[in-house]
Amino acid sequence: MGKKRQIELTWIGKENRLKPPPQTLVEYPAVSYHVETRASGDSLRDNKLIFGDNLLTLKALEQEHAGKVKCVYIDPPYNTGNAFEHYDESKEIRANRKFLRPAAQFGNFRGEGGVDFRSGKKPEKLLAIILRHFSDPGDLVLDCFAGSGTTGAVAHKMGRRWIMVEHGEHCHTHIIPRLKKVIDGADKSGITKCVNWQRGGGFHYYHVGFLQNH
Ligand SMILES: C[S@@+](CC[C@H](N)C(=O)[O-])C[C@H]1O[C@@H](n2cnc3c(N)ncnc32)[C@H](O)[C@@H]1O
Repeated sequence: MGKKRQIELTWIGKENRLKPPPQTLVEYPAVSYHVETRASGDSLRDNKLIFGDNLLTLKALEQEHAGKVKCVYIDPPYNTGNAFEHYDESKEIRANRKFLRPAAQFGNFRGEGGVDFRSGKKPEKLLAIILRHFSDPGDLVLDCFAGSGTTGAVAHKMGRRWIMVEHGEHCHTHIIPRLKKVIDGADKSGITKCVNWQRGGGFHYYHVGFLQNH
């Protein structure tokens, strides 16, 4: 048997790893949203929508949530160049495209959630299949590349708890309006009918911030 060949990615300064400073989540209660009527119990109040960088957010979530997340959905930017107005996908990693493009072309789902998107958005039915397979009602689902917020919308309708992280301005222009419609029972699109979603629950909205005194 010959020696295994190894390839190592390297760059100037690799050995000087940056240690991110301790992070914390700062809630903005005026943006958080809940309704009193709940369709599937108290757990729907635990949901978190976090505006900011996902790596810093993971640091902030580590202590409370490590080992408690049942399903992590990862859908990083892929280079279609036409998903959201608010970030430049053309600068993102081209390699992701071949995996994610087929999913984006799955059916006619652009109007779901009452917000119009171009082809970066995932259909609710696809997410429902994934969540049904990898989680149970009440489980915690994490999406660190929230995009249009499909994961949270679907998780919510299926009685899962969720955490979503998004650093783009569409967090405010797309995700929040979409989630509010789900919570209010005003979103009749996507999987609403299949899972008999009515209304209820809510989410807490946070920014990621540095811990004081560090
Ligand atoms: C391909 S989109 C996700 C699409 C989403 N699954 C959907 O159905 O709409 C990737 C998202 O990740 C966000 N993103 C990229 N890097 C990020 C980072 N470091 N922290 C937080 N969000 C990030 C982008 O702004 C973009 O909205």
